[in-house]
Amino acid sequence: MRFTPSTLLLVAAAATVRAQVQTEETQSAIEGAPPAPSPADPLTRPPLDPEAECKPYGFQPVANAIPSFPKIAANVTAILPNDAAAKAKFASFSAQIPNIAPRGTFSGDITGVQYDRAADPDCWWTSTQCVKPKLAGLKPDIVIVPEPRALGYGFDDGPFCGHNRFYNYLESKNQKATMFYIGTNVMNFPLEAQRAVADGHEICVHTWSHASLVAATNEGAFAELWYTMQAIKLVTGVTPTCWRPPKGDVDDRIRFIAQSLGLDTIMWGFDTFDWEVGMNSVTPQSVQGNYDTLVTKAGSGAFNSQGAILLMHELNNYTMQVAIDNYPKLASAFDHILPVGVAYNKTTPYAETTIKQQSFSECACFFLAFSLPSALLPFFHCLSHLLPLAGLLCSLSAPSLSLYSSPPAMPPVLSAAGWLVRGHDLLSSWLLITLCPLLSHLPRPYPVPSSICRY
Ligand SMILES: *[C@@H]1O[C@H](CO)[C@@H](O)[C@H](O)[C@H]1NC(C)=O
Ligand SMILES: *[C@@H]1O[C@H](CO)[C@@H](O)[C@H](O)[C@H]1NC(C)=O
Ligand SMILES: *[C@@H]1O[C@H](CO)[C@@H](O)[C@H](O)[C@H]1NC(C)=O
Ligand SMILES: [Zn+2]
Repeated sequence: MRFTPSTLLLVAAAATVRAQVQTEETQSAIEGAPPAPSPADPLTRPPLDPEAECKPYGFQPVANAIPSFPKIAANVTAILPNDAAAKAKFASFSAQIPNIAPRGTFSGDITGVQYDRAADPDCWWTSTQCVKPKLAGLKPDIVIVPEPRALGYGFDDGPFCGHNRFYNYLESKNQKATMFYIGTNVMNFPLEAQRAVADGHEICVHTWSHASLVAATNEGAFAELWYTMQAIKLVTGVTPTCWRPPKGDVDDRIRFIAQSLGLDTIMWGFDTFDWEVGMNSVTPQSVQGNYDTLVTKAGSGAFNSQGAILLMHELNNYTMQVAIDNYPKLASAFDHILPVGVAYNKTTPYAETTIKQQSFSECACFFLAFSLPSALLPFFHCLSHLLPLAGLLCSLSAPSLSLYSSPPAMPPVLSAAGWLVRGHDLLSSWLLITLCPLLSHLPRPYPVPSSICRY
């Protein structure tokens, strides 16, 4: 084929159309969903009406799918009768589920339950805080983040209808978190769940009805997890690969079921007890005390060898407000605040592996770039903008010289410029590849503008 100007034009037009289609495809990972929330600056976006946010709204994909889901206001105890996919999945591993009896109640009451706490045969967290499974082949629970001075940042129990103000705050700080979503809440507030994915938060499962799963039958526990995964997939287009047990209630039987569904178990090391205010003599003062304790510990070097995971909630206005109030303190106490998956370099956080999130080193490099002393930034600017110009001038004044070969007989200034241009290329690739991950592990002697950092 001969390339006449008009064929070239056609090829260019086709390429443009394809690029547009691809952009649209990547932007809406969500099938049949309305467009993602407006990307306008969160601080200038008009305030949302909390009343309207909390009114039930008809979202067609959810309305259409109601028959394929359990009742939205109830604990699930079984797979739905006609759900062949769920039945097949359950049947694929149910024979291997360890033979451990259910214990306690759905609401987590374990009074009167007989259990050998000393031997702790089933690694039952509620009884012993055990996080290292006894059953071979089970992954240990995630309770810390491995990076020094890092905080695994996450919120349970969402999405909450009134959460847009809180998510605006996180967005204004460029802060991502791990969101542990309850299936019934996702069905009730689908647009809120979509926003979390659009904003780049990491979504994990927190069961269908917030039931304590150790109390559930094998099939009931499977259904609590499965239908939450399906709800999140339906509404946001992604299938989570992590979960957090409601009230931490997990044992090796439940770990086995979750792991068979591809879910990593994420616990925590520090509890703010924000969820418990007004109960069991927990007060806003004691919750503030819990945040302060963590900040003090960070200040005294308790996380200099490995980071922590903090338990907070998107449960109501209060829990979100206390998180906002304490964010600046946490941001100055920790070098990195980041979703748990990012801290573990989990670059594909969902079953849909086309959707990526950053790894720790990418995140840390970004962080490092912005935390260089401000005096250095103009220097780097000069390098990237002025040197190509200097190189151009150099090659114009000595046309026979390539920019990247050292000039044999040049005025010393131009010769130096030529070397710098070449050096600039080498230096920037070297910085990116080698120095950056290396430096991100060194203590920084200067204050870090954490609000600039995405994580
Ligand atoms: C599930 O059961 C527990 C305990 O009975 C109860 O607290 C909780 O509200 C129930 N959840 C739903 C969605 O019905
Ligand atoms: C939550 O906060 C909003 C805005 O401040 C307020 O309008 C709403 O009534 C609050 N909701 C509750 C349940 O307190
Ligand atoms: C994540 O990646 C960084 C940089 O490559 C590495 O130092 C760190 O050990 C990794 N973390 C985990 C948990 O694999
Ligand atoms: Zn919870």
